[in-house]
Amino acid sequence: MQIIFHESSRTFHLQNNDISYIIKVLPNDQLGQLYFGRPVRDRENFDHLLEMNHRPMTSYVFEGNKMFSLDHVKQEYPSYGTTDFRHPAVEIAQPNGSRITNFTYHSYSISAGKPALDGLPATYTEQDDEAQTLTITLRDELLGADLELSYTLFADRAALARSARFTNNGCMDLHLTTAMSLCLDLPDMNYEWLQFSGAWSRERHLKTRRLEQGIQSVESTRGTSSHNHNPFVVLKRPETTEFSGEAIGFSLIYSGNFLAQAEVDTWNTTRMTMGINPFGFDWKLAPGEAFQTPEAVIVFSTTGLNGMSQTFHKLYQKRLARGYWRDRARPILINNWEATYFDFTEDKLVRIAEAAKNDGVELFVLDDGWFGERCNDFAGLGDWFANTDRLANGITGLAERIDALGMKFGLWFEPEMVNKDSDLYRAHPDWMICTPNRRASHGRNQFVLDYSRKEVVDYIYGMMSKILSEAKVSYIKWDMNRCITEAYSASLPADRQGELFHRYILGVYDLYDRLTTNFPHVLFESCASGGGRFDPGLLYYAPQGWASDDSDAIERIKIQYGTSMCYPISSIGAHVSVVPNHQVFRVTPIETRANVAHFGTFGYELDLNKLTEEEREKVREQIRFMKQYREVLQFGTFYRLISPFENSNFASWMVVSEDQKTALVGYYKILNEVNGPYHRVKLCGLNPEFSYCVDGESVHYGDELMHIGLLTTDGAAGELTPDKRKSTDFDSRIFVLHAE
Ligand code: GLA
Repeated sequence: MQIIFHESSRTFHLQNNDISYIIKVLPNDQLGQLYFGRPVRDRENFDHLLEMNHRPMTSYVFEGNKMFSLDHVKQEYPSYGTTDFRHPAVEIAQPNGSRITNFTYHSYSISAGKPALDGLPATYTEQDDEAQTLTITLRDELLGADLELSYTLFADRAALARSARFTNNGCMDLHLTTAMSLCLDLPDMNYEWLQFSGAWSRERHLKTRRLEQGIQSVESTRGTSSHNHNPFVVLKRPETTEFSGEAIGFSLIYSGNFLAQAEVDTWNTTRMTMGINPFGFDWKLAPGEAFQTPEAVIVFSTTGLNGMSQTFHKLYQKRLARGYWRDRARPILINNWEATYFDFTEDKLVRIAEAAKNDGVELFVLDDGWFGERCNDFAGLGDWFANTDRLANGITGLAERIDALGMKFGLWFEPEMVNKDSDLYRAHPDWMICTPNRRASHGRNQFVLDYSRKEVVDYIYGMMSKILSEAKVSYIKWDMNRCITEAYSASLPADRQGELFHRYILGVYDLYDRLTTNFPHVLFESCASGGGRFDPGLLYYAPQGWASDDSDAIERIKIQYGTSMCYPISSIGAHVSVVPNHQVFRVTPIETRANVAHFGTFGYELDLNKLTEEEREKVREQIRFMKQYREVLQFGTFYRLISPFENSNFASWMVVSEDQKTALVGYYKILNEVNGPYHRVKLCGLNPEFSYCVDGESVHYGDELMHIGLLTTDGAAGELTPDKRKSTDFDSRIFVLHAE
């Protein structure tokens, strides 16, 4: 890994074994982008890569020169209106009404490792030799403003982290209305665009289309990163598959309103931008103030989508997630939500926990309904103290009973919310986000607290830390169940109202930071009505997230497949729930429910007392299996093999241990077949030389399993499967491979 500056040609070359990224100071002193892709050898001068041409109807920068137009050169952090007419990376409204800026090269520095971002989640290094960071300072003399573009190149990863920081050193108030985290101009448009979209209970479904001239984008305007679109998109070559070809992944480490956009101009060049959504954004930068954008990560792969995902997985697992739980196999949990909803007593909870403990579960999680006047969803949010009608001895008492069973205890919070029927609201009605003299819309009968205000965050921290200090709580599920409407803060002046959405998220990060710092052994799981805020920003604080409220195994195949494009298996909260399923009312075998949830953090969302003894025995076996293999499942190398978005009846994925001696292949069939063909799935990541014993039965070499495939045909309907069950609809298997 090296970052080189060639003084004579004013060129930066960031290079490691996987990528080259080349930047050049342009003739007008702004920054140009020359190349991003497979590594190329370094040279003093890459000026031949600077494409310039005379084109009619073009505006040019220098009088008398009909070649140099920003409309036609690739740039690093462009602005609008000084010959470039595409959407910009930066826009600043100035006191005289102008929005024209001119950030020109001033200086650079290269440092070992990676500096932290103030108040924001970001990737990090533990040793200085893991990465180098280039900071290029640009200056707009007229505004008296500096712009620092930061590029971190990781030594052994095909990944580049980027962010921008603005400082107002002048004497005018400036308003940042666009401040993207990255811009990447690419020389052609021969890409497919992949986005991960959906809604409540069908999060992160993969959508693919060809790029076309014009704009393609996904965004959030909801205050959260959202169920609707994830802050992650991929540009891949049309011929790229899961297993081969070029792909570029773009991921924003942010949990609020974002924009990810590809603008293809009519000369077929592509401008990718990603960052805080400029829609509604207006950040006042007074003299002396600075603004830091969130971080965006670009991953380059020449080994298909699996290669791209594996780079994201390892980076986010090891150098974004943090703390005690980062490298630890996750406890198998039981959550009472679908078992009881609001209808529980302390004894009922303990009975659920006892059964779970008996079957091997390690952590009991008490979900919604334990606090304030919360016996339905009209009351209680904001009052984070136990309801003693339900829990006579409070959380401390219940936690002790769970502890006495030999289990860990976890608790649900929704700290950003308030019901009007709560002590908090009665004491502080102005702490709720709403616009003066306008109706305040509700979501699930609740309202959003103004986390841009420090006193609000302090107050909630006080209540949560009291419980965590007093009771034996090992886990927190942090939920967030509505979008932000009528966005307005009673504490911000008129010219700062456009800051609210971002300040809100900074407040959320602040609370997460205080809790994770002061209670470092607590495992946090993020949640937002399922996967409504499943993003890298929260992964920095909470190493796992509840992927979806949809716990149906068949639905989950798509959700988890899409989620795995960016996020590691150790981050994907996945549970076994009852049948008929509570979201889609489907009946699936209990084996399949577990076979899907095993590729996640694993747990149960039901009352085991209500299962038959035969089912209980299966549960015990599932838990034994998870305990035996969870290190590999959660931290091994994950490969997607058959896509449920391409094949409507089958899906498959697998994990391989680091030493390649253990592999687990999940294979899922939607509907049963009668008298069907043979099916094989070609495996990945095995050692071709090793001979693997499959399910303790047949033995195959790694090369056979990868090139010829694993026979997965389990007999026609009515026949016995190899594991002696009758094959049914929604059937599945996990094949276990051990190298001999
Ligand atoms: C959200 C969560 C669920 C559950 C409920 C409780 O919907 O996603 O898992 O915690 O809230 O109200």
